[in-house]
Amino acid sequence: MRIDVSLVPGEILAKDASRSVVVVIDVLRATSTIVTALASGCEEVIPAESIEEAIALANGYKRSDYVLGGERRGVPVEGFDLGNSPQEYDGPRVAGKKIIIATTNGTNAITEYGVARDIFVACFLNADAVMEACRAYKDSDFVLVCSGQDGRFCMEDTLCAGLLATRLAEETGAEMSDAARAASLLYQQRKESIEDELLRCDHGAYLVGIGYEQDVRYCSRQSVLSVVPKVYDRRVIRKAHGGKEE
Ligand code: MLT
Repeated sequence: MRIDVSLVPGEILAKDASRSVVVVIDVLRATSTIVTALASGCEEVIPAESIEEAIALANGYKRSDYVLGGERRGVPVEGFDLGNSPQEYDGPRVAGKKIIIATTNGTNAITEYGVARDIFVACFLNADAVMEACRAYKDSDFVLVCSGQDGRFCMEDTLCAGLLATRLAEETGAEMSDAARAASLLYQQRKESIEDELLRCDHGAYLVGIGYEQDVRYCSRQSVLSVVPKVYDRRVIRKAHGGKEE
């Protein structure tokens, strides 16, 4: 058993992850939004690689069946129902609906992994629940994928990967790669200041600057939602406890 972390997007594509459990992370804000939407009772999330693809996907459904969401440069896409603020994806607006969403980095990172043993979606909000799901794979390798920012390393995803890597290593005895150890050391160094780190990291500071400080604070909350999103057939669905999909 081995835990690896893809610190920058695309890094993992060079490796064979077909027998690994892959966990995709985009703390600010795509995976926090997806986790919130599924916890609020949306039927499923359909991640799109582009605005155009999101619109094309939406055209395949009845208007009352879906909510179209997404952002570019952090702000909602013109003509879409919602942006990428997790707290917009709460309650009656999304319950029972398909969410079709296109974000700059996160939804691409989710669609990138065709072949893996299983693919989960994580953020700080559902960290404990993802840990519990991972514990069920007694003999698996794990790859924690940071979506990053415009192809580059980002602090917030690495801290979350560090949290998951630390806990997985403690609880399963799995070995860590150098990248996993780096993420784990960073997390252990900053674990008491996650909210501050998110507010000051490059993308967090940018979001604060355009008026989304509440989103950043919300995304720093740890293990407050118990949903484990699982990627299945290019859709993100809820994984029920005990391993079955809902
Ligand atoms: C992304 O996918 O790049 C992000 O979720 C951007 C954002 O903060 O909306």
